[in-house]
Amino acid sequence: MEDKIFAMRDEALAQVAAARTAADLEAVRIQYLGRKGLLPEIMKGLRDVPAEQRAGVGQAANQFKEALSEGLREKQETLASGSCQAAGPAFDPTLPGRVIPRGSRHPVSLVIEEAVRIFAKLGFTVAEGPDLETGYRNFDALNTPDYHPSLSEQDTFWIEPDLLLRTQTSPVQIRVMEQTQPPIRIITPGRCYRRDTTDATHSANFHQIEGLYVDKSVSLADLKGTLAHFARQMMGPDVHVRFRPHFFPFTEPSVECDFSCHVCGGKGCRVCKQSGWIEIAGAGMVDPRVFGKVGYDAEKYTGYAFGMGIERIAMIKYGIPDIRMLYENDLRFLGQFR
Ligand code: DAH
Repeated sequence: MEDKIFAMRDEALAQVAAARTAADLEAVRIQYLGRKGLLPEIMKGLRDVPAEQRAGVGQAANQFKEALSEGLREKQETLASGSCQAAGPAFDPTLPGRVIPRGSRHPVSLVIEEAVRIFAKLGFTVAEGPDLETGYRNFDALNTPDYHPSLSEQDTFWIEPDLLLRTQTSPVQIRVMEQTQPPIRIITPGRCYRRDTTDATHSANFHQIEGLYVDKSVSLADLKGTLAHFARQMMGPDVHVRFRPHFFPFTEPSVECDFSCHVCGGKGCRVCKQSGWIEIAGAGMVDPRVFGKVGYDAEKYTGYAFGMGIERIAMIKYGIPDIRMLYENDLRFLGQFR
């Protein structure tokens, strides 16, 4: 009797294994465990089994029931998860995969990321400020006199009487100094806006990276060394850097910093307008009046600052002839920067 039960169990489990659908499985369950199934039948027949055999047969029947229930449950899960090949042609591993097109980094982002990496090694951290800025931080706190042409409607997108789209990243210097005491070593990449007519080298919307280093005895030599190091890291070891005297309201002395033209190697070409040099940054020693605006002691601290055009760097680094290409979102252009 027990052997018969075990044989029936093995048969039932084989049927479970062969089941291909939930309906197949249900049929097996009904055949054995259903109200009129084979197992209830055995249980009913237990009465007629001789007393000395009854315990053994009962145990075998229970064991059958447990094994079958467990088998049914497991198979149900496999069918539900779809991982069973026998369940049908849900997944064909021989089909070629679907190609998901990969995006690429925008050249402006590439230059920003590279600049952040270079300056991070020199101990600079990244600070950010809002695109909407107060007239005070964009101009007044940077010692820009009321009669400066950049304040006019011509150059600045004014939003409200004291609110504008920042024309430079320099106001972030003010934000940082208002909140922190020296020593300070930050760079601030970000968007800037000017009412410029768009052409091959001008865009009303562009990016700058500002740098600010304030400590005891920071010198112009530190500024030169830092920008020259940056140029070589960004452009390669052959780049030359030159500084020309200039004027900015927020620095004294002020300089403009040119890189030798990467496109022609300094010989002269269309991109550098035959001069061999490209203007990359404005820079200088922070004017003591700016320190006065943020409550720094100009007797105790000195600092340098610089602001450079990211699109300019991207254009000479990658040989992009027209700034507008950076803003047209042409995938044939953008896809080249991987
Ligand atoms: N903000 C200036 C511009 O947009 C660039 C600049 C010049 C930034 C000198 C500086 C600086 O921090 O010291 O033309």
